[in-house]
Amino acid sequence: MTGHVRHLYVHLPFCAHRCGYCDFVTVVGREGWHGRYVDALLGELERERGWLADRVETVFLGGGTPTLTDGSELHRLLAALPTADEVTVEANPETVTPGLARMLREAGVTRVSLGAQSFQPDLLAVLERRATPDAIRHAFYHLRDASFDNISLDLLHGIPGQSTSALEADIDEALALAPEHVSYYELEAKPGTRFAHAHGAELARQAEAMEGYFELVVERLNGAGYRWYETANFCLAADRAEGRDLRARHNLAYWRGRDYLGLGIGAVSTLGDERRQNTPRLNAYVTALARGEAPDREIEALDARTRDEERLMLGLRLDTGLPLAEAERSVDPVALGRVERLGLATLRADRDGRPTLVLTPRGRRLGGAVTVELLA
Ligand SMILES: C[S@@+](CC[C@H](N)C(=O)[O-])C[C@H]1O[C@@H](n2cnc3c(N)ncnc32)[C@H](O)[C@@H]1O
Ligand code: SF4
Repeated sequence: MTGHVRHLYVHLPFCAHRCGYCDFVTVVGREGWHGRYVDALLGELERERGWLADRVETVFLGGGTPTLTDGSELHRLLAALPTADEVTVEANPETVTPGLARMLREAGVTRVSLGAQSFQPDLLAVLERRATPDAIRHAFYHLRDASFDNISLDLLHGIPGQSTSALEADIDEALALAPEHVSYYELEAKPGTRFAHAHGAELARQAEAMEGYFELVVERLNGAGYRWYETANFCLAADRAEGRDLRARHNLAYWRGRDYLGLGIGAVSTLGDERRQNTPRLNAYVTALARGEAPDREIEALDARTRDEERLMLGLRLDTGLPLAEAERSVDPVALGRVERLGLATLRADRDGRPTLVLTPRGRRLGGAVTVELLA
């Protein structure tokens, strides 16, 4: 029997060191564990395979640093995963050699998301990144040489000490590489991280100056022919991409509220009216699966209201918005009128003529605050 889930996430947690701003589920050291971890992932895949549809649309290997995983183990994992239309791997620049790039391509990877963050040596140092600006450029060229035609760059704005001219310089460097896709995140100093402790005061001081930063990012990338299709994501517009739709299909599935299966420590799955998250503990995860048991999981029941609200929060991040028929279940009509009059949201027909709720560019820059205002 096959299931309905068409999107698969696989978490590879190993990192060479822990960057101060990061609060993802990562594991430093434990080089000897890669094989056991891949065994556990494949064990979990076997247990959960029944959720997956005959044809999987997207697979995403995220981290951690997937490309730090021992090459033969990474190859073994890729060979055992279901084939998909889009297979993305996150890569840290300093790990990308010509051989690794070729291996990924030959193993069926179609898209690489390269964690650049910045091209300024001083800002990379603040972030405690290992890659130099040259290493980022070389990684990009190695991927191109291995014939990757869908490369995304991750960049950050709001780094402590980042001036407008440094931001402009990063945008220039990124555009010079002509990636198909750019994710431009606002750096979040997560409470409790070493980073928040060390840089909190500087971040508070520069907060006001940073308000215009994202506007600048959107303006510059739009001007260079990139479509701002999601709050933090841009792709070469179809007329610049020979008609290809270069939006990240895996992430689009999240934003459209589709179900997905997540494998690995800390991985989240959304399956019908249930969300579950695997234990973040490597030892417990590997041991359970080696015994043929399910790993520990936290399970959250998703009622219809929660799903509708999440659908609205995520759908309004997209430039295509959300069909009104779906939005109506969670939107307060009076608040909608108010937000429309403020020029933050609007109703328009989608390609099939269905009424659709979209945020205006100003509404999208304000992001979640507008959506919260809309909730009934
Ligand atoms: C899951 S991380 C892992 C990628 C990879 N290990 C790396 O560091 O490049 C994916 C992306 O999330 C973004 N990210 C990580 N921590 C962040 C934070 N505190 N605030 C905003 N974005 C963050 C970074 O741009 C990063 O490339
Ligand atoms: S390399 Fe990426 S995942 Fe690992 S600690 Fe740094 S930011 Fe986090």
